[in-house]
Amino acid sequence: MKKHNFSAGPSILPESVMKKASEAVIEFNGMGLSLIEISHRSKEFIAVMERAQDLALELTALKGKGYKSLFLQGGASMQFLMAAYNLLDSKAGYINTGAWSNKAIKEAKLFGEVLEVASSKDKNFNYIPKGHQIPADLDYLHITTNNTIFGTQFQKIPETNVPLIADMSSDIFSRQIDYSKFDLFYAGAQKNMGPSGTTLIIIKEDILGKVNRVIPSMMDYQVQLNSDSMFNTPPVFPIYTSMLTLEWLQENGGIASIEKHNQQKAALIYNEIDRNSAFVGFAAKEDRSFMNATFNLADGIDGAAFDALWNEAGISGIKGHRSVGGYRASIYNALPMDSAQLLVDVMQKFEKTI
Ligand SMILES: Cc1ncc(COP(=O)(O)O)c(C=O)c1O
Repeated sequence: MKKHNFSAGPSILPESVMKKASEAVIEFNGMGLSLIEISHRSKEFIAVMERAQDLALELTALKGKGYKSLFLQGGASMQFLMAAYNLLDSKAGYINTGAWSNKAIKEAKLFGEVLEVASSKDKNFNYIPKGHQIPADLDYLHITTNNTIFGTQFQKIPETNVPLIADMSSDIFSRQIDYSKFDLFYAGAQKNMGPSGTTLIIIKEDILGKVNRVIPSMMDYQVQLNSDSMFNTPPVFPIYTSMLTLEWLQENGGIASIEKHNQQKAALIYNEIDRNSAFVGFAAKEDRSFMNATFNLADGIDGAAFDALWNEAGISGIKGHRSVGGYRASIYNALPMDSAQLLVDVMQKFEKTI
């Protein structure tokens, strides 16, 4: 039986995408060959790469606006350093919303001065800092739009005149935001896009070329752009699967339509967290993530029976991250409403037992 997959990442992908991707591993495009045994320089794979890059720009409404997209390796973690390598000349600002921002800050410090513009560390990162000044002399400001671990999300993108960079690993393509506010954003594929192994980077070309250091070829956005994400052999399977997911998204009405679906799923789950006497939400209400709903057991409640109930119901992946404890329901684009409803039913069943 297929489980209801609430995993934070790698995570659920659309069933139709999984089917097409697995078929392509056996035979791709009627070629008599598998997708994973053909040259990445074949016309068939080049078409995949171009389509994936194009769809990413189309879905974010950035096509024809001076942006390019790249599919590289190394995960979002590689972008923590690559962004700073290419763009940090003297001083950059970071808003620290927890683990992932911390890692990005650590890498950036290798390349220049890093100013922690704001942080929510004082409350174990259960909120998004607001109301701070963003200095005008920064090379860029970096934010993590959605913190996967703590379940917080920027509901309003900070206004600033300095270039804006974002780690969107866990909420890319999930909601309508003005993507043109960002000069660079990146996301590991393994949440809303595909299997792990590739990272999407969308970059405004005119922000490059402003630092003086020598950048190794593999780390250089310009080199990667000049070779259309094929400076070396790209991860063909994750890119193909990402292309299929982006096609699925487009065929289903794009981001506008998935956003409504995501809001409905999130509302269902958060309403239950707030109503149910067995649970308390972790993140501040106004900063709650529409992708990762974090919640704990209310004081004095033993969760063993809840764990047994969701396991029996075929639910998988809702244990919280070790730094938050409790539970985390990741409700990415491909998670069906039925799965969200099932979780709510199980939460209600549990409440009756206490
Ligand atoms: C917001 C965020 N940034 C970065 C990462 C790290 O991504 P990767 O494993 O692709 O390096 C994750 C992983 O879950 C994440 O959720």
